[in-house]
Amino acid sequence: MKVLMVGATGADAGAVLPELVERGAHVRALVRDERRAEDALARGAAETALGDLNDPASLRAALALTGDRLSYGTFELCAPGMVDRVEMAAIASEEPGRPVHAEVTPLEEWAARMPEGPERDGLVRMMRHYDTHGFPGGNSLVLSAVLGREPRTLRGCFRELAQAS
Ligand SMILES: NC(=O)c1ccc[n+]([C@@H]2O[C@H](COP(=O)([O-])OP(=O)(O)OC[C@H]3O[C@@H](n4cnc5c(N)ncnc54)[C@H](OP(=O)(O)O)[C@@H]3O)[C@@H](O)[C@H]2O)c1
Repeated sequence: MKVLMVGATGADAGAVLPELVERGAHVRALVRDERRAEDALARGAAETALGDLNDPASLRAALALTGDRLSYGTFELCAPGMVDRVEMAAIASEEPGRPVHAEVTPLEEWAARMPEGPERDGLVRMMRHYDTHGFPGGNSLVLSAVLGREPRTLRGCFRELAQAS
């Protein structure tokens, strides 16, 4: 399947690219700047397309001849089950058999260690949201539809990581 990948050069999103290639996808990486194309190709992209999410016209060209099942979709990708930080630490302890403890750092204390600016403001808002509503997720319906199978659980991922290390 031919897919257009957004964020192929990203620190976190870029880690998805080799995984897609390993699963047999032909990846066309969207890059905003030709100079970033090398980065995407080095991660395994078969080709690159120049485009910017802020310029819809450039995306139409980039999307041409890609698989259409997921085109124009925005997906919230969640594993099944809701966990808080304490439960996540418990799972991370049990599977590799190494103790991991969750501790509360007051938000203001944590924020004071970051430089002032929009990144800090955004992260503080995100952490407040988590404190009030818990981590997002819990419903794997979208991920099941995208993958065509049930997604792995958080515990399953920790188990795989423990076995691989
Ligand atoms: N839910 C979670 O737990 C979680 C965890 C980590 C990350 N994330 C999210 O995942 C996303 C990617 O994270 P990341 O760490 O890979 O970010 P990153 O390192 O900042 O990379 C951002 C990527 O998006 C591309 N990009 C930025 N603006 C674009 C635009 N207007 N048009 C097209 N491409 C654009 C960048 O291209 P250039 O190379 O041209 O800059 C780069 O490839 C972010 O939204 C982040 O918040 C979520």
